[in-house]
Amino acid sequence: MKKILLGVTGAIAAYKVCTLVRLMIREGWDVRVVATPTALEFVGEVVWHTLTQRPVERDGLGPIYPPRHIELATWCDCFVVAPATANTLAKLAHGIGDNLLTQTALACDRPLLLAPSMNAKMWAHPATQANLTTLMGRGAHLLDPGVGELACGVTGTGRLPEPEEILAVMKDLVREM
Ligand SMILES: Cc1cc2nc3c(=O)[nH]c(=O)nc-3n(C[C@H](O)[C@H](O)[C@H](O)COP(=O)(O)O)c2cc1C
Repeated sequence: MKKILLGVTGAIAAYKVCTLVRLMIREGWDVRVVATPTALEFVGEVVWHTLTQRPVERDGLGPIYPPRHIELATWCDCFVVAPATANTLAKLAHGIGDNLLTQTALACDRPLLLAPSMNAKMWAHPATQANLTTLMGRGAHLLDPGVGELACGVTGTGRLPEPEEILAVMKDLVREM
């Protein structure tokens, strides 16, 4: 059974990832969610816990040993961050570990798939693009956001791909593992 660690960050498209979780469970994968504090303001812990039938991994002391970021990083076969905010991409690119998700990413050497989602100007910002270049240079897999109407009211690049599209990319990645 493939073990998928799903990192959820504070983007409006977090609601779409609920469907992705259902699709992953249907594949027979074991899915655990690690959420940033902001992510849990968008979609609450009850939803993730129920869909994955696993407690949500979130900031807070929790069990001391083994350290949770190390346990999560070594447990998973694959780490997927969807949706990935501009903020979390910047942290990942620069090695910042100020929450459980980013600490886990620092400790994880498994395949990393990033599915960014954000406003078109945030996406096009040179800082975001430079961070993505850095991350891909280190071997991260990038799922490009789509073009279309965004939740913020503008039309442009920044839409999270549909759950079925993300699943298809994940299946390819998992097949290689
Ligand atoms: C209503 C609302 C929607 C947001 N949507 C996005 C988004 O789609 N993508 C993004 O990168 N940031 C978005 N943000 C900003 C992030 O929530 C903010 O940068 C936050 O610090 C991200 O924290 P995290 O990366 O630790 O989850 C949004 C903020 C608000 C208030």
